[in-house]
Amino acid sequence: MVNLRPSAKFDKKAALVLLTKEQVKNKKFPFKYKSLEDEIVFLKSSGQFTGANGEIFPLVSKKQIVLLAGVGDEKKISLTKFRGAVRCALKSSYLKKIKDVEIIPYSQKDEVIISVIEAVEIGMYSWKKYLSKDKDDKSVEEKSIHLVSSKKPVFQEIMTISKGVNAARDLVNDNADNVTSVHFEKEVKKIAQKSKKMSVTVLNRKELKSKGLNLHLAVNQGSNKEPKLIIVKYNGAGKTAPYTAIVGKGVTFDSGGLNLKPGGHMEAMRMDMAGAAAVLGILKNVSALNLKKNMLFVMGLAENAIGKNSYKPGDVIKSYKGMTVEIGNTDAEGRLVLADAVAYVTKNYKPKHLIDLATLTGACIVALGYEYTGLISNDDSFARKLLASANKTDDWAWQLPSYDGLEDRLKSQYADIKNISNQKGSAGTLTGAEFIRQFLVGDVKWAHLDIAGTAFVEGKSRMYFGYGATGAGVRLITDYLKNN
Ligand code: BES
Ligand code: ZN
Ligand code: ZN
Repeated sequence: MVNLRPSAKFDKKAALVLLTKEQVKNKKFPFKYKSLEDEIVFLKSSGQFTGANGEIFPLVSKKQIVLLAGVGDEKKISLTKFRGAVRCALKSSYLKKIKDVEIIPYSQKDEVIISVIEAVEIGMYSWKKYLSKDKDDKSVEEKSIHLVSSKKPVFQEIMTISKGVNAARDLVNDNADNVTSVHFEKEVKKIAQKSKKMSVTVLNRKELKSKGLNLHLAVNQGSNKEPKLIIVKYNGAGKTAPYTAIVGKGVTFDSGGLNLKPGGHMEAMRMDMAGAAAVLGILKNVSALNLKKNMLFVMGLAENAIGKNSYKPGDVIKSYKGMTVEIGNTDAEGRLVLADAVAYVTKNYKPKHLIDLATLTGACIVALGYEYTGLISNDDSFARKLLASANKTDDWAWQLPSYDGLEDRLKSQYADIKNISNQKGSAGTLTGAEFIRQFLVGDVKWAHLDIAGTAFVEGKSRMYFGYGATGAGVRLITDYLKNN
């Protein structure tokens, strides 16, 4: 955990001193400690440490390790890379075993302080539940970071938001048979119970059936688990204030269904509820930050399993909205769950804005890779606001188009619409989003975040995330809600 201290003391087992090139060159240090200043000046004159980006230099004095880390020219610093560098320094052999570390940042600007806090709280997160023997590097819960800063409000806010991010990650990382729809309901109720502003509605199999959310039911048909549509109403503003709905895809495991996923494509599919997990993280944040907004938090929970009851390719199913849907592929299940969820929410609650979050398409990874979430919207000014929050919070997103004519690709010969495109291998992310758009009821500003690439790290670590869930979308949407 990070805590703040107003000035550098060099009284912990270790200190991490972050310096720009200008600071080293002009001998302007963000601390007062004469002998350390002299040492840095010496290192500079002998060319050992100039403050260039990526340089690190360990010093030992009076039984204390001081790790100097260069961040380069102040004007050229990428705060994404900076977060990575701070994480890397904390995980380096110099610091990894040390619990108490003092960090002296090169600047007191808000964005720098935020970056250091996130490097620790988000960057040092690691999923250790199933490791019986701990690795020797310490994760965020085990470290005690003393950040030299007096930016208390910024600090408190970022700590809160980071907790929301990590709550989402914990849900995504655990086994699919632990994080079921029942588990989601329990977690949601734990949060909602603490607040008078929240009320929870859960539609189980019975209610889904009687109301006609047959797409949602179909996806879950092969599973031994209960399908659930969880809706949390949060009243943070007056009765007349409009609602913003956040809807998450919560496929607790995606085997592909009878269109079974091939080897190599299924192993991480417990992450297919990352949209719903992000909704829970955002809900946590909105409540903790006490935002003065009216909100709907919606989680569409199902398991796409195979079994004797599984729904089948070629089936036609009547949706909640009334349109009939041809199942072209049982692996395009997320859009089915979301179609019923957005239809239900827009029809019955009439939100002014709706954002859905979903690990929807492998095509999004082809288009944008693993760092950028795909954003598709029917309203450009709404999209711009979301993109601004994405940029600001380092929870990146890139807009892809939505245009007239896309709906033609979803034509079916014997139903109103089909759940896959007739043009295989082209613009799969756009047609996935288009399918969802077709189920909105009434006039609603809609944005879709495809987090298929960004929600989970399988191979090499990415940005400043280790293995597993990233909490994609939580920082982005929390920031949007704070500011709009
Ligand atoms: N959950 C997957 C998408 C996905 C793929 C998420 C990789 C994360 C990583 C989704 O349900 C799916 O299987 N989509 C299909 C759609 C296709 C059948 C139209 C896909 O992307 O191949
Ligand atoms: Zn699928
Ligand atoms: Zn899926």
